[in-house]
Amino acid sequence: MLKEENNDLIEKINDLKRQKNAIILAHYYQTPDIQDIADFVGDSLALAQEAVKTNANIIVFAGVHFMAETAKILNSTKKVLLPDLEAGCSLADSCKPEDFKEFLKNYSQHTVISYINCSADIKTMTDIVCTSSNAVKIVESLPKDAKIVFAPDKNLGSYINNLTGRNMVLWNGSCEVHNILSLERVINLKIEHPNAKLIAHPECKAPILEIADFVGSTAALLNFTIKSESNEFIVATETGIIHQMKKSSPNKNFIIVPTDDTCSCNDCIYMKLNTLEKLYNCLLNEQPEILLSQEIIEKAKKPMLRMLELS
Ligand code: 13P
Ligand code: SF4
Repeated sequence: MLKEENNDLIEKINDLKRQKNAIILAHYYQTPDIQDIADFVGDSLALAQEAVKTNANIIVFAGVHFMAETAKILNSTKKVLLPDLEAGCSLADSCKPEDFKEFLKNYSQHTVISYINCSADIKTMTDIVCTSSNAVKIVESLPKDAKIVFAPDKNLGSYINNLTGRNMVLWNGSCEVHNILSLERVINLKIEHPNAKLIAHPECKAPILEIADFVGSTAALLNFTIKSESNEFIVATETGIIHQMKKSSPNKNFIIVPTDDTCSCNDCIYMKLNTLEKLYNCLLNEQPEILLSQEIIEKAKKPMLRMLELS
């Protein structure tokens, strides 16, 4: 898109936002133009907290489906819009409600902790939701000998098991972006950049997490790069986060970890389905909207509220 067309679209989006008392919440994996037009950019936890406290009538969620659904669950009187309804999540899709229901029959005495990257249906079968920024705290809030099922991310689950000495039963799900980041490429990058800090999202596989200097949510990774005295970072997560890292520390160097493929891009195809044009159309037409039954909202809200209380 030409720069003038882009500016025109930005102006029109801002006008509509004012007219309709709408707010744009964006995740760090969105494209830079969307992050820059958003009222708030954050990780899953901060976005959920922002959705709770907003006074806007309309929430436009520039993120993926489970995030917009979470906003609707937490603030159900608001109209919640998602620029592209196809913006799903491979991790959420790796845990189908019918399969999870069957699985839980084997663990009826267990407390169920679900990572926020799951559908509203999975949340209705959950005792406490967590995100990557509070997962350890949520697990540690339960007694040491508590029996726990953790879903859907096996990488995050096994990371917490190692960190806390727990033995949570793990659902076998993963994120197709983080799960294919290449350990070999990480090791080569560390050799090429001996002074760089390796920072990783906990959805990465265990061998990468084991050698990382810092593991955390997108917001925590960003914060680490701001506070660290280091000038160079090898970043094991989705590419979108680099925009805020560069904005906050323009003189630091950020190297994104490539995937195993010949392609070195690790964009989340679902996050990247949202565009400025779709965002404009969705504000204009107030579609596509996230709609959930009152029953699902009430059931899914309980484990979400438990998480917010513990955060
Ligand atoms: P954060 O909560 O760390 O932003 O992670 C969300 C996500 O989808 C990571 O892939
Ligand atoms: Fe889902 Fe992975 Fe994309 Fe995050 S990066 S939204 S976990 S597919």
